[in-house]
Amino acid sequence: GSEKLSIEGGPLSPLSSPPQVVLTQDELKKIAAYKAVDFVQSGMVIGLGTGSTAKHAVDRIADLLLQGKLNNIIGIPTSKKTHQQALSLGIPLSDLDTHPNVDLAIDGADEVDADLNLVKGRGGSLLREKMIESACKKFVVIVDESKLVSHIGANGAMPVEVVPFCWKFTQQRLQQLFEYAGCMAKLRTNGGENGDPFVTDNGNYIVDLFFNNDIGDLRASSDAILRLAGVVDHGMFLGMATTVIVAGGLGVTIKNK
Ligand code: 5RP
Repeated sequence: GSEKLSIEGGPLSPLSSPPQVVLTQDELKKIAAYKAVDFVQSGMVIGLGTGSTAKHAVDRIADLLLQGKLNNIIGIPTSKKTHQQALSLGIPLSDLDTHPNVDLAIDGADEVDADLNLVKGRGGSLLREKMIESACKKFVVIVDESKLVSHIGANGAMPVEVVPFCWKFTQQRLQQLFEYAGCMAKLRTNGGENGDPFVTDNGNYIVDLFFNNDIGDLRASSDAILRLAGVVDHGMFLGMATTVIVAGGLGVTIKNK
């Protein structure tokens, strides 16, 4: 189901007149992030996402801790970057080894389809995100409306984390796997065609897949990628999100699985 909230009006009230102010994309991200933090309760173990949207959620959690409105939170960061941010804000941190049961995770996404399937990892943190977000009871995704797509994979890179060993071989095999969808597989670099490879927090590389046509069955595509030796994981997050909070110019929509 989905419910619509207005930015100006109270909860659940449909928007009667459009808001007067035009919000920036970053303001929309912040609105979605703050809304998600409403789900956080004292004593919870919280998966802390990565990216410009999730950053607002981490800031907000830290604020509420400082104000004494939240207590005894344990954060499980999904990247070295988020770890740094949360540490500098004084959020108590742990990891999945010590806290394998995560109550709630809050994270952004690059694409969201109508079934709440996601593409993640354009920021490069897909593996830790997937490990933590598949270990949580509730996974709240926060996006501005530009992330909504009719089918995932249609709107930019589908990241695949691969081991550095013979990455060209793996890249080749990934491209062949999706030949039917006009796939172009490209190694992510730190800048330009001949830049150094982008290295993930886990010391791996990322091959970005670009499709010309619909890849078809998502679950079959996911399984096929994971079967390739050399692949660590990919950025398709299928059936994992329990809630998606979408902030748009006309208000906030909360979609539940
Ligand atoms: C990082 C991610 C991010 O959640 C995703 O890229 C969205 O980022 P942003 O909130 O900056 O748009 O998956 O690996």
